[in-house]
Amino acid sequence: METPESFLPFALPDIGPEEIEAVAESLRSGWVTTGPRARAFEEEFAAHLGVPEAVAVNSATAGLHLALEALGIGPGDLVLTTTNTFTATAEVVRYLGADIVLADIDDRTMNLSATTVRQALAELDQTAPERAARLKAMIPVHFGGQACPMEELMAIAAERGLRVVEDAAHALPCTAGGQPAGTLGDVGVFSFYATKTMTTGEGGMAVTADRDLAARMRRMRLHGINREVWDRYVARSASWYYEVVAPGFKYNLPDPAAAMGRVQLRRLSAMWNRRRTIAERYLEAFAQDPRLILPWPVRPEDVHAWHLFVVRLVRADRDRFVEGMARRGIGTSVHFIPLHLHPYWRDRYGYRPEQFPVALRSYRQSVSLPIYSRMTDGDVERVIAAVFQALDEAEE
Ligand SMILES: Cc1ncc(COP(=O)(O)O)c(C=O)c1O
Repeated sequence: METPESFLPFALPDIGPEEIEAVAESLRSGWVTTGPRARAFEEEFAAHLGVPEAVAVNSATAGLHLALEALGIGPGDLVLTTTNTFTATAEVVRYLGADIVLADIDDRTMNLSATTVRQALAELDQTAPERAARLKAMIPVHFGGQACPMEELMAIAAERGLRVVEDAAHALPCTAGGQPAGTLGDVGVFSFYATKTMTTGEGGMAVTADRDLAARMRRMRLHGINREVWDRYVARSASWYYEVVAPGFKYNLPDPAAAMGRVQLRRLSAMWNRRRTIAERYLEAFAQDPRLILPWPVRPEDVHAWHLFVVRLVRADRDRFVEGMARRGIGTSVHFIPLHLHPYWRDRYGYRPEQFPVALRSYRQSVSLPIYSRMTDGDVERVIAAVFQALDEAEE
């Protein structure tokens, strides 16, 4: 086999001179914590999605935590989510002393569906009816940038009196029934981690139409103080005075990161177009190969963020395939190792691997291919050629 000329990473951020200049300008200004750029970023993000409130935070994990806290989730409560997610979605539930209830995924989309949620609810009602009353919220995760069936999930939430926090970490830009994902539940939380469709290095945004929830999240992201740092700074009188009204957290987004986020938001549509072009090329190239299950198409009126491009291998050994790709200098990843297989979640709730058979099978078959705006056409063709070769080698 010929030696690859260079390694193509699984993911890379798309940071150009505008981002660098915006961060430098923020540093030169002397205001390096949360300030006017974070405020402007919130306003621009809210306007972009058409939501009244956006609260900038230093990670999506922080945003999810704040959202559940603002909704009053506490010790003894239960929150339903998918097993096919990153541990952040679930760990925030434990921060609050509450517990999770996991549901399996739809085989086509790898997302929660009305069927899998109803199955999980039926099992909870049957096995622990006294605990079922403590089920307070649901966290749908828009896996890979494809929206969950929000209309159906919101209907179930209404039936059961559940609050809904959308984990929209992958979902920018992404729509469900033509509406932006993240704006359909009580709160939606986006991630600006380095690999996401736009990045601030680390960062996130919680959006909501509920001004009280937004006010609570703003307060709790900064120590439970009743005024923002920036407000104190610009206030004409008594700028030293503040009141602590709750034991809050330290989750604010610094201005240099917000400055980068503002540029990334302006470039989001162009970066997404490139991801979409790459996804279309992959779909075309792999369409005729029966050894691959390709991402399920979104509804015609909807948008896929293409944060991930996950293929599932029908007749090949996944681990050998990943090794074959690596030998050809191509980084891949696996999304996700289902939560119920991880020791902490498995042992806390006594989950068995087969308890969520679709997630288990999907996990064993899944590989995420590189998809990001900095990839050249040559990179994309290199991935495609490597996939066919690695498939031949890994066939069972
Ligand atoms: C589905 C999901 N939710 C939440 C997060 C947490 O995001 P952050 O790293 O911004 O805290 C991630 C991170 O990768 C994720 O994939």
